[in-house]
Amino acid sequence: MRAHEAGALHGELGSRGPGWLRTPEDVNVILPQLWPTSVARAADGALAIGGVSVRELAERFGTPAYILDENDMRERCRDFVAAFAGCDVYYAGKAFLCRAVVRIIAEEGLHLDVCTGGELATALSAGMPPERIGFHGNNKSVAELTRAVEAGVGRIIVDSFHEIERLTAIARDLGTRPGVLLRVTVGVEAHTHEFIATAHEDQKFGFSLAGGTALEAALRIVDDGVLDLRGLHSHIGSQIFDTSGFEVSARRVLGLQAQIRDARGVELPELDLGGGFGIAYTTQDDPAAPSDLAKRIDKIVADECEALRLALPRLSIEPGRAIVGPAVFTLYEVGTVKDVDGIRTYVSVDGGMSDNIRAALYGATYSATVASRVSPAPPILARVVGKHCESGDVVVKDEFLPADVQPGDLLAVPGTGAYCRSMASNYNHVPRPPVVAVRDGQTRVIVRRETEDDLLALDVG
Ligand code: LLP
Repeated sequence: MRAHEAGALHGELGSRGPGWLRTPEDVNVILPQLWPTSVARAADGALAIGGVSVRELAERFGTPAYILDENDMRERCRDFVAAFAGCDVYYAGKAFLCRAVVRIIAEEGLHLDVCTGGELATALSAGMPPERIGFHGNNKSVAELTRAVEAGVGRIIVDSFHEIERLTAIARDLGTRPGVLLRVTVGVEAHTHEFIATAHEDQKFGFSLAGGTALEAALRIVDDGVLDLRGLHSHIGSQIFDTSGFEVSARRVLGLQAQIRDARGVELPELDLGGGFGIAYTTQDDPAAPSDLAKRIDKIVADECEALRLALPRLSIEPGRAIVGPAVFTLYEVGTVKDVDGIRTYVSVDGGMSDNIRAALYGATYSATVASRVSPAPPILARVVGKHCESGDVVVKDEFLPADVQPGDLLAVPGTGAYCRSMASNYNHVPRPPVVAVRDGQTRVIVRRETEDDLLALDVG
């Protein structure tokens, strides 16, 4: 018997545990809220995505691999565009960006938020219309800003007085008037991990509303007239479920909008409320539908504008995770299974913290399932770990897997579309996995697997 059978562990895990998988039947179940829409068990028990078996995917593309359900991602784009009709939806490219993704979001009518020269280069090289690009970042270089202005990006979100000076000089030199938004720190304590909360006062982003620098910066840009101040911007953080944070933030930035109008008689035509909409990594997460988010945000903006006698600005939002996160799962192969007697079972896969740093960095939780077959075995509590040389290399901290999980099994972890490939590293010289898109039974590699030659190509010493 494996060290930890499900029943015995109930007490240890309490209500925080992965209590959704208890019986042998449950262990094999694919919960629709955690998986891309086209994923289901095929007749042989293996998972299939868009009708393609994970066994075939593993054979053709190897493991680990990120598998993207392209139709699922497109559906999510459409849901946001429909829910936020009359607004602009900027996909936050930092979640995951490559040329194929740029094309998908452009085709689906979204705009694109980039935050470095590299993301901008990817967007432009895939033909994203520059006027549909917004450029973020708290420390954009002169070269990055110059390139963005020369390319004609639609908006640059300015984040510091130094940046305003730099951009003003560039605009003067080039004889253009770039559109800018002002990033405002609204002082909201978002209920999320400290590293991904961005609207409390004590952090690096934006101009403080409470401290008065946001108003000062806005008036400076308006008075100077070199940059075209289109509106205010607020992003309160990431993986947020409680919409009240967006409401407080909208109220506060609109209050600033009214102050600018009162001081200079100008009404800024745009307002960006950022991204951060949470997704379900486990059954403990219960995200709001885009239509609910849109209703609440529209109402609060309309009410506040009416109270402040402001014309309704054109709204924009910047979802990243909610567009691509749930559309991807990572496919691994199990290499070793180890019972640490009386403690737990460790299931090692052929990737780890180099392809998903989120558990190690944020204590993020994920779920997992044996993907190559169904099993009649009873559930055991397992920890899915990677192949890296440190014990913090955890992919899934607690999950019930069948007691007969064994080397050679394929294991799939859903919800890995956002901030996994984009934060992947070569730690321990592990080449980064490919991204394979599946659509209507067709597969295509959109980011190829790194090779050892790729790793050595940079090593020129
Ligand atoms: N807009 C701005 C200005 C942002 O800084 C971000 C994320 C977004 C939009 C998109 O947020 P999303 O909708 O994807 O939550 N690496 C962390 C997340 C960092 C997010 C940084 N900014 C993670 O893995 O959870």
